[in-house]
Parts: sequence; C-alpha cells; structure tokens
Amino acid sequence: MLVTGHCSACHSLQLVTTQRGDRDFWLNTIRWMQRTQKLWEIPPDQEEIILNYLETHYNETEWGRRPPLAASLMPSENVNAN
Ligand code: HEC
Repeated sequence: MLVTGHCSACHSLQLVTTQRGDRDFWLNTIRWMQRTQKLWEIPPDQEEIILNYLETHYNETEWGRRPPLAASLMPSENVNAN
C-alpha cells in the first residue's frame, strides 16, 4: 500500500514492478528521483518499509528462473587467475 501510494503518482506501477534490484538499487533509484524528478521526502519509517518490500519481492534474484550453470560449465579458476 505504501508503494502504491508513493510510487504510482508519477508513473505507472509497472515501471516499478518491471525493475529488479537489491536494496542499494532501490535506494539509489529513490534518491535519483528525489534529486532529479521532484520525488518528495519519504518519512524514514515508511521508506524502510518500502525498501524492505521492494528488496524482498523485486530483487534481482527473483528475476530469471534460469538455474545456475553447472560447475563444469563455469570458467575454470585458472582463466581468472592473473
Ligand atoms: C515525483 C514523481 C515520482 C514519484 C512519486 C516516483 N517516481 Fe519513479 N520515476 C519518476 C520519473 C520522472 C522517472 C523517469 C520516468 C521515465 O524514464 O519515463 C521515474 C523512474 C522510475 C524507475 C525506472 C528507473 C530507470 O532506471 O529506468 C523506477 C524503478 C522508479 N521510478 C521507481 C519508483 C519507486 C519505487 C517509487 C516510490 C518510492 C517512485 N518511483 C516514485 C518520478 C517519480
């Protein structure tokens, strides 16, 4: 409800729900909108709830459902050692 209230005023919520990211991503996105898009200050207790919600439900780990590559398909350690 907080996300709907704060985040659907200027753009559709779809713009929010089609993004994925960790807490830093969401915080940066909010700060960016505050700096450049006239997003208002969100009271810290509400911002906390919004960030918790977004990082839980719209985290990049929720993005693709592709299982991780098998270890045998990963680059060998020697490739990266330099
Ligand atoms: C005061 C107006 C305003 C409010 C309120 C607002 N935004 Fe935005 N937001 C913008 C504008 C303007 C853009 C750029 C839209 C575009 O690129 O078409 C944007 C873009 C975004 C993007 C896309 C960023 C990107 O990199 O493309 C996300 C995600 C986003 N907002 C999330 C949120 C969330 C989460 C909230 C609630 C905390 C929120 N917005 C509330 C104005 C606002």
